[in-house]
Amino acid sequence: MALLFLSPDDPADTWRAELQARIPGLDVRTWPQVGDPADIDLALVWRAPPGELGRYPNLCAVLSLAAGIDGLIADPDLPDVPIARMVDPSLTRTMTEYVLLAALRHHRKFDRFERAQRAREWAYAFPPQAADRRVGLMGLGELGSAAARALVAHGFQVLGWSRSPKVLDGVVSYPGRSELHAFLHRTDILVCLLPLTSDTVGILDAATFAELPHGACVINVARGQHLVENDLVEALDSGHLGGATLDVFREEPLPRGNPLWDHPKVLVTPHVASYSVPATAADGVAANIRRALAGEPLLHQVDRARGY
Ligand SMILES: NC(=O)c1ccc[n+]([C@@H]2O[C@H](COP(=O)([O-])OP(=O)(O)OC[C@H]3O[C@@H](n4cnc5c(N)ncnc54)[C@H](OP(=O)(O)O)[C@@H]3O)[C@@H](O)[C@H]2O)c1
Repeated sequence: MALLFLSPDDPADTWRAELQARIPGLDVRTWPQVGDPADIDLALVWRAPPGELGRYPNLCAVLSLAAGIDGLIADPDLPDVPIARMVDPSLTRTMTEYVLLAALRHHRKFDRFERAQRAREWAYAFPPQAADRRVGLMGLGELGSAAARALVAHGFQVLGWSRSPKVLDGVVSYPGRSELHAFLHRTDILVCLLPLTSDTVGILDAATFAELPHGACVINVARGQHLVENDLVEALDSGHLGGATLDVFREEPLPRGNPLWDHPKVLVTPHVASYSVPATAADGVAANIRRALAGEPLLHQVDRARGY
């Protein structure tokens, strides 16, 4: 029994040490030094090259190092085995920080003051109170619901759009497509925390922006393919949207020629909104290794038909 570790971004040695502290003797093989592919039972992965996971004939489960598994299930060679996505307190905490910071930056007009400073303008203006600002979260799952709680604690009016109805203190729930219109109409700061699926691809487009109130801001921390970049630029340039904070892009790294880099109303961050650390995330991964080897259902198992 061996675990394949494959990620261009995560620290292989730290992961091995954290997992072996929980499962003594666990055989962890770091890609591409895999040895015999038939030894591999489990894979812990992020950004696996397409086709790679089809090479292991005895693979019985895939554990994702990320919360989003859209890249994994887009691979036509991915074997039909259970997939678990990453759920980890550090991932949730860092996403909550980012969403709160970005929402506060738009709320307190720091984006406008940054532009005004570059023009040496004393742009005196008070924002409304947080209680008068409406923050709408698309996606109220692990990450969206934690961000919603922090926004409520800060005093914002908080709305959430999800597939199923939610009961969360201080959050008004708008379930399903039929509620999207009402949700968008009441949202001053829109946060996208949806999984990327066939239902949600391109959801941040001209039609969605047109439903938002004049001056609304958009924060995309989900996937770049949720956003139609040209529609965003047009909505910002027309003055309908007040600003945007973008952490994820259709092409990453964002190409140097992309107009979003220079747009005065856009803040670009390099897909760093949240991250998990092995010291906390290894508990859940170790639990899933034991479950997979015992033939039990995984924690946070993905519904492949639903796409998340
Ligand atoms: N930028 C970064 O650094 C970063 C880091 C981590 C994650 N992410 C992104 O964040 C996403 C969310 O992560 P998560 O752990 O919170 O996911 P999750 O727990 O699976 O939650 C997904 C939420 O989206 C809702 N949803 C899904 N499809 C929908 C649809 N068609 N219409 C309305 N609502 C829909 C779900 O509704 P139900 O609750 O009704 O099912 C759920 O509330 C990930 O998929 C990933 O793309 C980005």
